[in-house]
Amino acid sequence: MHNSLYWLNYFTQNLKNKRIDWSIKPSLNQTEREKILKSLQAWQLGETSEGTNLINAATKHAKQLNDRHYTPTIKLFILEEQKHGNNLGKYLDLIGEQRIKKDWGDSLFRKIRGLNTHMEFWTIAVITVESTAQIFYQCLKDATECKLLKQICTDILIEKPHILLFRQKD
Ligand SMILES: [Fe+2]
Ligand SMILES: [Fe+2]
Repeated sequence: MHNSLYWLNYFTQNLKNKRIDWSIKPSLNQTEREKILKSLQAWQLGETSEGTNLINAATKHAKQLNDRHYTPTIKLFILEEQKHGNNLGKYLDLIGEQRIKKDWGDSLFRKIRGLNTHMEFWTIAVITVESTAQIFYQCLKDATECKLLKQICTDILIEKPHILLFRQKD
Protein backbone atom coordinates (compact mmCIF):
# COMPACT_ATOMS: atom_id res chain seq x y z
CA MET A 1 0.00 0.00 0.00
CA HIS A 2 1.47 3.35 -1.04
CA ASN A 3 0.63 6.85 0.14
CA SER A 4 -0.20 9.83 -2.07
CA LEU A 5 3.34 11.16 -1.93
CA TYR A 6 4.58 7.91 -3.48
CA TRP A 7 2.07 8.30 -6.34
CA LEU A 8 2.91 11.95 -6.76
CA ASN A 9 6.56 10.97 -7.33
CA TYR A 10 5.56 8.06 -9.55
CA PHE A 11 3.52 10.27 -11.91
CA THR A 12 6.10 13.05 -11.89
CA GLN A 13 8.80 10.58 -12.97
CA ASN A 14 6.59 8.74 -15.45
CA LEU A 15 5.61 11.94 -17.25
CA LYS A 16 9.29 12.59 -17.94
CA ASN A 17 9.76 9.23 -19.67
CA LYS A 18 9.71 9.52 -23.43
CA ARG A 19 9.11 6.00 -24.72
CA ILE A 20 7.92 6.85 -28.22
CA ASP A 21 10.28 7.47 -31.12
CA TRP A 22 8.33 9.89 -33.30
CA SER A 23 10.95 9.68 -36.05
CA ILE A 24 9.47 6.28 -36.97
CA LYS A 25 7.06 6.56 -39.91
CA PRO A 26 3.64 4.94 -39.42
CA SER A 27 3.28 1.78 -41.49
CA LEU A 28 -0.35 0.83 -41.15
CA ASN A 29 -1.65 -1.26 -44.04
CA GLN A 30 -5.16 -0.91 -45.45
CA THR A 31 -6.57 -4.01 -43.75
CA GLU A 32 -5.22 -2.92 -40.37
CA ARG A 33 -6.56 0.58 -40.91
CA GLU A 34 -10.09 -0.66 -41.62
CA LYS A 35 -10.02 -2.93 -38.59
CA ILE A 36 -8.77 -0.54 -35.95
CA LEU A 37 -9.71 2.99 -37.05
CA LYS A 38 -13.13 3.28 -35.33
CA SER A 39 -11.95 2.06 -31.94
CA LEU A 40 -8.70 4.03 -32.20
CA GLN A 41 -10.70 7.23 -32.75
CA ALA A 42 -13.10 6.42 -29.91
CA TRP A 43 -10.32 5.73 -27.41
CA GLN A 44 -8.43 8.83 -28.55
CA LEU A 45 -11.46 10.91 -27.64
CA GLY A 46 -11.94 9.03 -24.36
CA GLU A 47 -8.39 9.74 -23.24
CA THR A 48 -8.75 13.50 -23.63
CA SER A 49 -11.18 14.32 -20.81
CA GLU A 50 -10.69 17.53 -18.83
CA GLY A 51 -11.25 15.63 -15.62
CA THR A 52 -13.02 18.51 -13.89
CA ASN A 53 -15.52 16.29 -12.07
CA LEU A 54 -12.83 13.89 -10.94
CA ILE A 55 -10.72 16.77 -9.59
CA ASN A 56 -13.73 18.11 -7.65
CA ALA A 57 -14.46 14.70 -6.14
CA ALA A 58 -10.78 14.21 -5.30
CA THR A 59 -10.57 17.60 -3.60
CA LYS A 60 -13.54 16.74 -1.38
CA HIS A 61 -12.00 13.39 -0.58
CA ALA A 62 -8.58 14.92 0.17
CA LYS A 63 -10.16 17.32 2.70
CA GLN A 64 -11.78 14.43 4.54
CA LEU A 65 -8.50 12.54 4.61
CA ASN A 66 -6.50 15.67 5.34
CA ASP A 67 -4.15 14.56 2.54
CA ARG A 68 -2.52 17.48 0.74
CA HIS A 69 -0.84 15.25 -1.87
CA TYR A 70 -4.01 13.57 -3.08
CA THR A 71 -5.47 16.21 -5.43
CA PRO A 72 -2.10 17.00 -7.08
CA THR A 73 -1.70 13.25 -7.65
CA ILE A 74 -5.10 12.96 -9.32
CA LYS A 75 -4.25 15.97 -11.48
CA LEU A 76 -1.07 14.24 -12.68
CA PHE A 77 -3.08 11.07 -13.36
CA ILE A 78 -5.41 13.09 -15.61
CA LEU A 79 -2.39 14.69 -17.29
CA GLU A 80 -1.02 11.24 -18.07
CA GLU A 81 -4.34 10.21 -19.61
CA GLN A 82 -4.30 13.39 -21.70
CA LYS A 83 -0.78 12.48 -22.81
CA HIS A 84 -2.19 9.19 -24.14
CA GLY A 85 -4.93 11.12 -25.92
CA ASN A 86 -2.36 13.46 -27.48
CA ASN A 87 -0.18 10.57 -28.64
CA LEU A 88 -3.12 8.76 -30.23
CA GLY A 89 -4.25 12.04 -31.78
CA LYS A 90 -0.80 12.70 -33.19
CA TYR A 91 -0.86 9.21 -34.70
CA LEU A 92 -4.28 9.83 -36.28
CA ASP A 93 -2.91 13.06 -37.78
CA LEU A 94 0.12 11.21 -39.17
CA ILE A 95 -2.02 8.58 -40.91
CA GLY A 96 -4.30 11.31 -42.25
CA GLU A 97 -7.40 10.38 -40.25
CA GLN A 98 -9.78 12.58 -38.24
CA ARG A 99 -9.73 13.10 -34.52
CA ILE A 100 -13.42 12.66 -33.75
CA LYS A 101 -15.32 15.12 -31.58
CA LYS A 102 -18.25 13.08 -30.38
CA ASP A 103 -18.95 9.41 -29.86
CA TRP A 104 -22.23 8.21 -28.33
CA GLY A 105 -20.46 5.89 -25.91
CA ASP A 106 -18.18 8.67 -24.82
CA SER A 107 -21.03 11.19 -24.35
CA LEU A 108 -22.93 8.65 -22.29
CA PHE A 109 -19.92 7.96 -20.14
CA ARG A 110 -19.27 11.67 -19.68
CA LYS A 111 -22.86 12.16 -18.48
CA ILE A 112 -22.55 9.37 -15.95
CA ARG A 113 -19.25 10.78 -14.78
CA GLY A 114 -20.92 14.18 -14.37
CA LEU A 115 -23.05 12.64 -11.66
CA ASN A 116 -20.03 11.25 -9.87
CA THR A 117 -19.35 13.65 -7.04
CA HIS A 118 -18.10 10.98 -4.66
CA MET A 119 -14.69 9.39 -4.86
CA GLU A 120 -16.25 5.95 -4.22
CA PHE A 121 -18.16 6.10 -7.52
CA TRP A 122 -15.09 7.37 -9.29
CA THR A 123 -13.05 4.48 -8.01
CA ILE A 124 -15.44 2.00 -9.60
CA ALA A 125 -15.64 3.96 -12.88
CA VAL A 126 -11.89 4.39 -13.21
CA ILE A 127 -11.06 0.77 -12.35
CA THR A 128 -13.56 -0.37 -14.99
CA VAL A 129 -12.09 1.87 -17.68
CA GLU A 130 -8.49 1.09 -16.73
CA SER A 131 -9.13 -2.67 -16.87
CA THR A 132 -10.81 -2.36 -20.27
CA ALA A 133 -7.94 -0.17 -21.48
CA GLN A 134 -5.39 -2.85 -20.59
CA ILE A 135 -7.28 -5.35 -22.77
CA PHE A 136 -7.93 -2.90 -25.60
CA TYR A 137 -4.35 -1.61 -25.99
CA GLN A 138 -2.91 -5.12 -25.81
CA CYS A 139 -5.30 -6.17 -28.63
CA LEU A 140 -4.47 -3.05 -30.63
CA LYS A 141 -0.75 -3.72 -30.22
CA ASP A 142 -1.20 -7.32 -31.40
CA ALA A 143 -3.41 -6.26 -34.31
CA THR A 144 -0.78 -4.15 -36.03
CA GLU A 145 2.71 -4.47 -37.45
CA CYS A 146 3.19 -0.70 -37.29
CA LYS A 147 6.17 -0.08 -35.02
CA LEU A 148 5.10 3.42 -34.06
CA LEU A 149 1.60 2.33 -33.05
CA LYS A 150 3.05 -0.56 -31.07
CA GLN A 151 5.25 1.89 -29.15
CA ILE A 152 2.26 4.12 -28.41
CA CYS A 153 0.38 1.08 -27.06
CA THR A 154 3.32 -0.06 -24.93
CA ASP A 155 3.58 3.39 -23.40
CA ILE A 156 -0.10 3.20 -22.40
CA LEU A 157 0.16 -0.39 -21.18
CA ILE A 158 2.96 0.60 -18.80
CA GLU A 159 0.39 2.75 -16.99
CA LYS A 160 -1.02 -0.38 -15.37
CA PRO A 161 -0.35 1.00 -11.84
CA HIS A 162 -3.26 3.45 -12.42
CA ILE A 163 -5.56 0.69 -11.23
CA LEU A 164 -3.59 0.41 -7.98
CA LEU A 165 -3.81 4.13 -7.29
CA PHE A 166 -7.60 3.85 -7.15
CA ARG A 167 -7.74 0.49 -5.46
CA GLN A 168 -5.52 1.38 -2.53
CA LYS A 169 -8.17 3.51 -0.83
CA ASP A 170 -10.45 0.59 0.08
FE1 LIG B 1 -4.91 6.14 -20.63
FE1 LIG C 1 -5.03 5.01 -17.39
